[in-house]
Amino acid sequence: MNIQGATSDFKIQITKTESIEVLENLRIKYLGRKGLINSFIEELKKVEIPDRKILGPKINNLKKYIEEQIELKSKYILDKDEKEELIDITLPGKKYPKGSLHPTTIAIEEISNIFKKIGFIPVSYPEAEWEYFAFEALNMPKGHPARDDFETFFLDEAEDKKYGKIILTPHTSSGQNREMNRVKNPPIRMINIGKCYRPNWDSVHNPMFYQFEGLCIDKNINITNLKGTIDYFVQQFFSEHRKTRLRPFHFQFTEPSFEIDISCGICKGLGYLTGGETGKKTKCKVCKSGWLELGGAGMVHPNVLKKGGIDPNHFSGWAFGFGVERVYMMKEGLMLDDIRILYSGQIEFLNQF
Ligand code: DAH
Repeated sequence: MNIQGATSDFKIQITKTESIEVLENLRIKYLGRKGLINSFIEELKKVEIPDRKILGPKINNLKKYIEEQIELKSKYILDKDEKEELIDITLPGKKYPKGSLHPTTIAIEEISNIFKKIGFIPVSYPEAEWEYFAFEALNMPKGHPARDDFETFFLDEAEDKKYGKIILTPHTSSGQNREMNRVKNPPIRMINIGKCYRPNWDSVHNPMFYQFEGLCIDKNINITNLKGTIDYFVQQFFSEHRKTRLRPFHFQFTEPSFEIDISCGICKGLGYLTGGETGKKTKCKVCKSGWLELGGAGMVHPNVLKKGGIDPNHFSGWAFGFGVERVYMMKEGLMLDDIRILYSGQIEFLNQF
């Protein structure tokens, strides 16, 4: 390499250099004992005197230039490193706010884990659902009055000949037919947890809420299995002291149908509290009767099984649908006097969970 080549080569390399190690290698390459500058000096000895007089100062100038540049770069790198290290370790650290899971999410996790332990498969079905799955498949044909409580939040979408309009699903029961289509042959053990929508707005209702729907279909499934499963859930989720009872009711998609009650955790199922200095009995404000309503259940209606392609002569099943927020509110020690606070976005409230 000649002097000119070495100069431009050096210029390129020094601008790229960002660390002391690389800079030192560069120094060795040019100024080291076996470096380029020394090799030029060796060469110089071989050339004629007049040429030597021209080349000598050129080599010297290059050497000086390289030494200066290396010195400058070295200072620059060291200064920069020092500035980066200038951290005042006596300053208090930054506190980043810690998030927490929403109570409904906590409840959903807990509920699905309880059911998973006994072989139920957690699924989730559409939130915006065809009318067919929400009603027809559940023995509620068009125009049936049982639909009245549910038919509210329709979407502006074209109607389908078979499936009808699209609605924000009013209950997780619309997952029943979908699950039968998915599994095809029983046994079916489904736990469907999802958002539901209804036109209610008061201290115990939010228009958007969550339900969890159990569905169990197999040979010889009966009410005892339903009661046993609900008792298992209640004892796991609430406490082993809580009791349940079935009350006759009516749902279009079950026969027979029930409402399931759970003994009140506040008054321990008595319906009254004994307290205060006088020891007087006062009516329990939470339940008024010793029992709280958990939700609906029943034996799956033969028409519902048929719609799902399951022969009611060979198989039977039960189903239930409970509100997630509702059971969470009822959990011992958790007294929310307004369910809507869960979705109010009040961080002070949510931070407690
Ligand atoms: N889907 C009903 C509701 O939202 C609840 C329900 C009742 C679900 C009975 C069921 C059932 O699976 O068997 O009001």
